[in-house]
This record gives sequence, structure tokens and C-alpha cells, in this order.
Amino acid sequence: MNFPKTRPRRLRKNPYIRDMVKETALSINDFIYPIFVTYEKEKKPISSMPGIYQLPISEAKKEAKEAFDLGIRAVILFGIPQKKDELGSCAYDENGVIVNAIKEIKNFVPELIVAADACFCEYTSHGHCGVVDNNGYLLNDETLELLKKEAYVYAKAGADIIAPSGMIDGMVKAIRDALDENNFKDTIIMAYSAKYASSFYGPFREAAESAPAFGDRKSYQMDYSNALEALKEIELDINEGADIIMVKPALSYLDIIKMAKERFAFMPLAGYSVSGEYSMIKAAAKLGWIDEKKVVDEVLTSIKRAGCDIIITYFAKEWLKNNS
Ligand code: PBG
Repeated sequence: MNFPKTRPRRLRKNPYIRDMVKETALSINDFIYPIFVTYEKEKKPISSMPGIYQLPISEAKKEAKEAFDLGIRAVILFGIPQKKDELGSCAYDENGVIVNAIKEIKNFVPELIVAADACFCEYTSHGHCGVVDNNGYLLNDETLELLKKEAYVYAKAGADIIAPSGMIDGMVKAIRDALDENNFKDTIIMAYSAKYASSFYGPFREAAESAPAFGDRKSYQMDYSNALEALKEIELDINEGADIIMVKPALSYLDIIKMAKERFAFMPLAGYSVSGEYSMIKAAAKLGWIDEKKVVDEVLTSIKRAGCDIIITYFAKEWLKNNS
């Protein structure tokens, strides 16, 4: 392979040739669109995430339908409950906001795949992702018991996918057991397997009103200095029965995505392009410093190129509007 016989530019001569040799292309099947559902009656904008809202169930239904009509095949739901307590009891309340949202959305748009984030930070008064002891330390096995209840009520409401995001040891096994014991053998588990303690979640915590009241999440979410540890977390989740694995965030973690895909090629891999990734692009675009449409396509393509089969992104609707 030598110049002048080999001239890579031959294959870049015009758009048709470039398209013909394109290695990665995003498609409508790649996306999961996050929706924040609130118990309140009014739709509320999230200041740090322009274009994203906390939606009452009646509006969330419409949003889900609009997404589906654009071509989006899956949404993931996050809930803002009517009240928070020490145990996050609204998360597993049979009449909780997400339970009702799942029922209404599945009823309104039956073909849309509905995933439910299974965690407690939006539901606890202290904002941590489970039960904490007097020192504020997250109690692992006690939290698993609550997660089982949460997964059960979401599956019963009709969720297609349960997505545990708390980085609790044993969470996938606990949920699989709870689902199987209750005859939800076909409910899918998408595990936030390698979820890092990241400052890119900042805007989400405004959106979901889920910032921890004290401390941080470093005793359960991963240290961003670590790569190999992600393989351990992912392998544990696969062995516990995860159907889909996830790396989160995405953009600063493309190396982890690539490693995960190489090592576990047989597993569908999701990448969560998180709130901070969204807000940074929105902010720079608002200042006129970048071309939003092009940057969004470049970023999402890079996540797919790194190895993701599924991309969870707040830009899903926008990308489809710009590319169909
Ligand atoms: C709940 C959860 C979080 C995100 C998804 N699920 C927040 C957190 O761990 O603090 C973040 C998503 C985003 O930033 O877009 N545990």
C-alpha cells in the first residue's frame, strides 16, 4: 500500500462515493429517548436542558406519541414523585407516577418500547440511590429488596424494559429473580453496568430533582480513572442475567464503549449520552460557537462508531427531524 498507486482521496471525491464506503451510519432503530414524568399538573421547562421538560402524564403520552411518529422506537422514563421519603417509597407505590405513566403510554402507543429507569435518587428525601444508614452510607442488600419491588410494579404496569441505574451490587440478579418469580420472564433488563460518578449528570439532577442532599455517589458509581473495572462490572451483570449492557456517560467514555464491545461482542450495548453532554452542545450552539445540527450528528455517530448498538440521547427527536 503505497502512494502514488494508493490514493485514499479517490474514495472521498463526491458524496455518493463517500456514502458508499461509509462504515457507520445512524438509524432510527438506534435511539432511546428519555422522558421526565412529573406528578404535578403543569409542564415545566428544565432551564439547563433547553427543549426538555418535566411532563405531566397527559403530556408525556403526547410526547411519546410524537417521538414514535418521528420513528423513535423506545423511550426511557424518569419520575418526579408527589413526595420523597427516606425509603423512596413512591418508587414502588402501585399508584406511583411511573407506574401510571407506563400504563397510559402503553395504552396510547402500544408498539412503543417503554423502558423504566429503576433507581431511588428521585424518590428519596436524601437523594441517594437507595437506603442509607445513619452515616449516609448506601446500604447495598437492603436496597436490593426495594429494587425488587420497584421492578415488579413497573413490569406489572407493562414496562418492556427495566433499567436499573443505581450501581448496587447484585441489582441485576435481584431484579431478574423478582421478575421471574412473578412470571415476568420476558421482561428485558437493560443494566447501567458501567456507570461512572460523573459531573456530566448535573443538568439531569435539576431535571429529576435528584441531587444528593449530602455527599456524593462515589461509594457506588465508578471512579472515572478506571477502565478495566468496567469489564468486571459488565461481566457481573451479564452473569446475573442482563439482556442489554450500558456504559454511561458516553462521550468521555468512548474508550470504555470500545473495550466493552470488543470483549462482549455478543451483548447489545447501550451508551447513555447524558444531560451534561446535551447541555454543553446546546449552550455552545446558543452562543453561535458551533453548528448544533452537525455537532449532534458527529457526536452520536462517534458513539455508534465506538461500538454502541443503542444510544440513549435527549437529541433523538432532533436528530430524526434533521435526518428524515
Ligand atoms: C439515576 C440516574 C441518573 C442519570 C440517569 N439515571 C443520575 C445520577 O446517577 O445522578 C443521569 C442521566 C443524565 O445525566 O442524563 N440514578
